[in-house]
Formats: sequence, structure tokens, C-alpha cells
Amino acid sequence: MRRPISRKRTAAMAAIVATAFLPLSTPAPAAADSVVVGGQPVRASDSPWAVALSSRDRFGGTRAGQFCGGVVVAPTKVVTAAHCLGPTVLGTDVKELSDLKVIAGRTELRETGGREIPVSAAWISPQYDADTQAGDLAVLTLASALPRSYVIEAARSGDPAYRPGTNAAVYGWGDTTGGGSYAYGLRAADVRVLADHVCARAYPAGAGGGGYLPATMLCAGVAEGGRDACQGDSGGPLVARGRLIGLVSWGSGCGEPGSPGVYTRVSAVLPAL
Ligand code: ARG
Repeated sequence: MRRPISRKRTAAMAAIVATAFLPLSTPAPAAADSVVVGGQPVRASDSPWAVALSSRDRFGGTRAGQFCGGVVVAPTKVVTAAHCLGPTVLGTDVKELSDLKVIAGRTELRETGGREIPVSAAWISPQYDADTQAGDLAVLTLASALPRSYVIEAARSGDPAYRPGTNAAVYGWGDTTGGGSYAYGLRAADVRVLADHVCARAYPAGAGGGGYLPATMLCAGVAEGGRDACQGDSGGPLVARGRLIGLVSWGSGCGEPGSPGVYTRVSAVLPAL
């Protein structure tokens, strides 16, 4: 989601979620060079499963219309966050978007490499709840197939990659500062999978819901903060042990100590393809 967010920690999760999901008022042109807080540049050729979702109609052409991330899980299937296809991100219904595309094999959004593939269908998980962000996953069908070599395996439940302490990396073209500095190049940040009780302590259930829900979420970060996903990274991959374990979903601010990133637990929401 391409909009600046408040970096201040708010008290109630309902307020945090509201802050993170304010509607886009204008399809703002993007800003400076950056992505993923505390990350480093990576090449799309080394992580071909990391793709960008694009609509130039809604988000302008400066950054090739990028507004969320996605992950190639089969030659014609890309998973992303369900909230990326909702009205608060798109400002319209996904069905009204005539130019929704997946950009694959392109590191730099200002360059023309790789491929832009139209999306022919979008499926939103029935587990998705826009109020709590439970089950934040959608599957896009591509109009033409990507090479098999682009595909990353999705972790299944019980996969040791979900164990707390596991090293993981998050990828995206999103905000690199938490202040609305959207990147042009793909970046990745190293984080660690955290235990559910740590995530629940960081995000207790509030009156309006919106707390950490272990059934369909996991959280990851580093104790000292400084490395995290941020706005615009949503739907993008969290990878551990070479497998897809999470999709960027939400968080309080970006990279703040004690506020880890929250991800969709792919093993709990992705159906067999
Ligand atoms: N909701 C954001 C988006 O739509 C992702 C926020 C992730 N935040 C975080 N601190 N990990 O792009």
C-alpha cells in the first residue's frame, strides 16, 4: 500500500490497523530511492519468485504502477495479500481494475526488463477478514505462464521453517524509511521468526479486534528493530529455508523495536494448487 504512515505507536490495535489501511486519497507519484526498512538491494534474477503487483491506472507510471508485492507459487499462480486487492488499497473494487498486472524478473521499476503479465482472475481466501486481517491471502491467475524456475515452494504446516528463531528474509519494493520513501529497486531484509507468545505480547487483542491471531498469522523481526517490511511491501514474500512461509500483512510502524512485522501464515491459508 503506497502511502506514508504514522511512525508513532498507537495504543489500540484497532487504531493501528486503521492507520495502516487509510484509503489512498490520490494515486500519489512515488518518491525517493529505497525499499524494506534496513534491507539491502537484491536482484530479481536471484529471487525470481518475488514479483510486483502493478496498476498504472491507479498508481501512476513513475514506479511502473507498483503497489504491492506477490510471490510465484506455480507458473500461472501468484499469491499476495488479500488486503492488496481491497478498496482501501485500490480505492476501487479489484474487478474495476482493467490493468492489473504482475511484473516478474525486473529488479528496477524504472527499467523495462522482465515481463509484465496481465492477471486473468483473482481469488480471495474465504478466511480473510478485513476487520482483523485474519487469513490475509489472495491468489492471482496469470494470463500466461512464467518459467518453472520462477516458482518457490510454499511451506506446509509443521515445516521446521516456522520454528521460532529461524532466519528469514522479507523482500519488496516498499517504503524504506516508514516515511513514504518508496524504493525503485527490489530489497530484502534479514529477520527472525518469533514465537507466538512474543507476537501476542507485541499485539494484544484490543477491543476492536486486530490483535495477533496465531492461526493465520506469524510474526518476524529483530529485537533491536531497524529491519522490517513496510508500506508497499504487502503481499510480498517472507522466505526461510528456501521456502515461502509468510506474506507481508501488517505491523505497527516499520522496524520499531518491540513491533515486529506480521505476516500471513501461508501454510494455514494457501489451498493446494
Ligand atoms: N500494510 C502494509 C502494506 O499494505 C504492510 C505493512 C507491513 N508493516 C510492517 N511493519 N511489517 O504494504
